[in-house]
Amino acid sequence: MSQDQPRNALVLGAGGGLGQAIVARLLTDTSIDRIIAVSRNGRTEDLSGHWISSDRLVWIESEYDEPAMAEVVEQLASYKGTFSRVCICHGLLHNDTIWPEKRLEDINADALHEIFHANTVIPSLWLKLLHRLLVGKRRCVVVALSARVGSIGDNRLGGWYAYRASKSALNMMLKTLSVEYARRVKNVKLISFHPGTTDTALSKPFQASVPKQNLFSTAFVADCLMGIMDEAEVDGQLSYVDWDGKTIAW
Ligand SMILES: NC(=O)c1ccc[n+]([C@@H]2O[C@H](COP(=O)([O-])OP(=O)(O)OC[C@H]3O[C@@H](n4cnc5c(N)ncnc54)[C@H](OP(=O)(O)O)[C@@H]3O)[C@@H](O)[C@H]2O)c1
Repeated sequence: MSQDQPRNALVLGAGGGLGQAIVARLLTDTSIDRIIAVSRNGRTEDLSGHWISSDRLVWIESEYDEPAMAEVVEQLASYKGTFSRVCICHGLLHNDTIWPEKRLEDINADALHEIFHANTVIPSLWLKLLHRLLVGKRRCVVVALSARVGSIGDNRLGGWYAYRASKSALNMMLKTLSVEYARRVKNVKLISFHPGTTDTALSKPFQASVPKQNLFSTAFVADCLMGIMDEAEVDGQLSYVDWDGKTIAW
């Protein structure tokens, strides 16, 4: 595949703990020309000075309704065929009004809708909207941040209905997208990625029960992810892997 154009990277939902760490890690990779980050919020001034100084970082503020997302994609038209890395980092487990369900009485229609929208609908819409931008000769690896709790085979503990089901649904959307991408966007490899329990706002309320050695820093996970993206073969298949590159059962 052609490697003579600049390599660019796209990070969607870049304002969260993992999104920021992935942007920071990409900025240390001098083979990447430009990093485009999309978030509902303004650029975070953080992380070893890379952010503020780097003119390689383009930060776009956007909401995630489909017209706004389409506008972002339109804005990026001149980057067609140049992306070698895309990371979709959206994820919602809890907020001011939503808490992961412990028992079936906690299941709530509004919470299910909100969690499915953030975790399944938005990543799927990005992949719908991006295909024309990604198609080309350049090898491009697209990762969506999923979670091991989305594995139906691995579900022994129960609970967390909305989050689990939204990640299983994300995996099915990605699998189905991978079938069509294999026909229409042959240069793209799709990966559904479990970062492990990582020290971010999303996991904060649940960290007390996690042994210290099993709670990862965002920088460690971003490093692992870049290694996995470097090694990934463009095979027309969806891979579902953890931070260690190990395959997770569906
Ligand atoms: N941390 C962990 O232990 C862990 C474990 C397994 C899987 N994951 C997955 O890793 C990914 C990143 O999570 P994180 O730990 O970095 O969490 P985080 O710090 O809470 O970041 C959440 C991200 O999701 C986006 N987001 C939040 N609410 C949203 C909504 N209502 N609609 C659309 N986007 C929304 C944010 O985008 P903006 O930039 O627009 O704010 C932000 O990038 C998620 O998919 C999560 O499920 C995390």
